[in-house]
Amino acid sequence: METGAKILSNVAQKPYFTKDNFVLYHSNCLDVLSQLPENSVDMIFADPPYNLSNGGFSVHAGRMVSVNKGDWDKSRGFQDDYDFHYKWMEACKRVLKPEGSLWVSGTYHSIYQCGHALQSLGYHILNDISWFKPNASPNLSCRFFTASHETIIWARKDKKAKHTFNYDLMKNGQWPEDFLKKEGLQMRSVWSILTPRKAEKHFGKHPTQKPIDLLKRIVLASTKEGDVVLDPFTGSSTTGIAASAFKRKFIGIDMEKKYLDLSIKRHAELESLIKELNQVYNKAPSKKQVEIMANRLSMKQEELFK
Ligand SMILES: C[S@@+](CC[C@H](N)C(=O)[O-])C[C@H]1O[C@@H](n2cnc3c(N)ncnc32)[C@H](O)[C@@H]1O
Repeated sequence: METGAKILSNVAQKPYFTKDNFVLYHSNCLDVLSQLPENSVDMIFADPPYNLSNGGFSVHAGRMVSVNKGDWDKSRGFQDDYDFHYKWMEACKRVLKPEGSLWVSGTYHSIYQCGHALQSLGYHILNDISWFKPNASPNLSCRFFTASHETIIWARKDKKAKHTFNYDLMKNGQWPEDFLKKEGLQMRSVWSILTPRKAEKHFGKHPTQKPIDLLKRIVLASTKEGDVVLDPFTGSSTTGIAASAFKRKFIGIDMEKKYLDLSIKRHAELESLIKELNQVYNKAPSKKQVEIMANRLSMKQEELFK
């Protein structure tokens, strides 16, 4: 990391991967967070374990599939799960700048514990976003409603500090993926975004991968170019891809190498798309070429050439 190098100078272990301003650690997030300096990170997006992988079933592509996502997603009992959420949020609070903000995503299995821990730690809640998934999987039991949203809490470290919110971009930007967003009107707290497209998973998939459109919106809403974005549960690094695409610095941490390897492939693809685009652009690309590239990166065309 260039100007962010100072931030990482106290971390004893070597990054698993580093390229320009995209850095990955293979570690328990608590270890890395404890070695970062206080007040050094602008924004954290965290998608912690949901603690729901305990033998249930769901439906995927019309087939019954196990909901077991991995050992990392098993519940250790109510109190242990809660204590873990408290610990990582406490560690995040220490490293966030006073005006920095934290996003925490979860389903009903985990989000209330997260919310409780967040408030106990004195974070100041700004919003709870409801991410509506119009293509959510059906409910198998037919005994309750089909879960079709996740909640994403957005909170500021310090009640009195002034956090970044790019209000105008949210209101007047183009958000064609979201049928709920009306042009020129304020962005509301319910976002309709499809689960990740096939193209986002062509290197292999992470069981709880977030769509790039979701992270793009979060990064653009709450950070500026050059800001340091951190994801303590980075998985396939959707946060890092959105951060890098929009010229933010990124630190991602995960305990599973296979997900970090997936992240590296996704990052390489982003780099090659940007390179390809620059070459095409130097030769005056056709409107169609620019449109195709922008679609592949899920960006607005003008954003590609900033
Ligand atoms: C819900 S997934 C995140 C998915 C990610 N948002 C994406 O788009 O791919 C949670 C991730 O946290 C990792 N994890 C679980 N406990 C961890 C810990 N203590 N430290 C670091 N990573 C952890 C898991 O390996 C898993 O990849």
